[in-house]
Amino acid sequence: RKRIAIFASGRGSNAEALYQAMQAGEVNGEVVVVVSDYSTAAVLAKAQAWGVPSVAVERKAYGSKEDFEQALLDAIAPYTPDVVVLAGFMRLLGPTFINAYPNKIVNIHPALLPSFPGLHAQRQAVEAGVKVSGCTVHFVDYGMDSGPIIMQTAVPVMADDTEDSLAARILPHEHTTYKRALALLCDDKLEIINRIVHVKP
Ligand code: GAR
Repeated sequence: RKRIAIFASGRGSNAEALYQAMQAGEVNGEVVVVVSDYSTAAVLAKAQAWGVPSVAVERKAYGSKEDFEQALLDAIAPYTPDVVVLAGFMRLLGPTFINAYPNKIVNIHPALLPSFPGLHAQRQAVEAGVKVSGCTVHFVDYGMDSGPIIMQTAVPVMADDTEDSLAARILPHEHTTYKRALALLCDDKLEIINRIVHVKP
């Protein structure tokens, strides 16, 4: 089983879905630590309920981005994770962190990348008037939501959608898509060739 560190900034519904999938044996991994950049994040209480170690690493406690990212590395190192799963972690990680886990960090984004990267993806989709949006699971590189795409699910956008109604329609698909993508990763089924993700048979 792969050892999984989950990073989340808030509510943690994706973290919960992934944890439950691992408990059910649908994903060949175990959550070894949960990290949040907010000490009050609901995801930390969830980790406590699961009996999983949880750590808050607040950005404001560190002067530079490099020091903050070194603190994140130090926080998870004792748990020797194989994979870092970003589940609503609302910070752009830089080389200090990423270089320590090459091609071992994955993220979920609530849009069909490369459309609508960054913050408020669902609002961006509504404002653009697209008729289809969705969610994307991808490997993390130095860019903003720009890494190799593992899996996507399309979700319709309705004429009267708001940011919130679209987010609510996409969210359950995030949970199922993230589970399926992480299952492939934990089974060593993913291969990146020239920035394209291939699924091994
Ligand atoms: C999810 O919709 C996730 O896709 C999004 O934050 C939400 C977290 O919800 N992530 C991003 O926008 C990343 N830029 P959750 O805490 O309930 O999993």
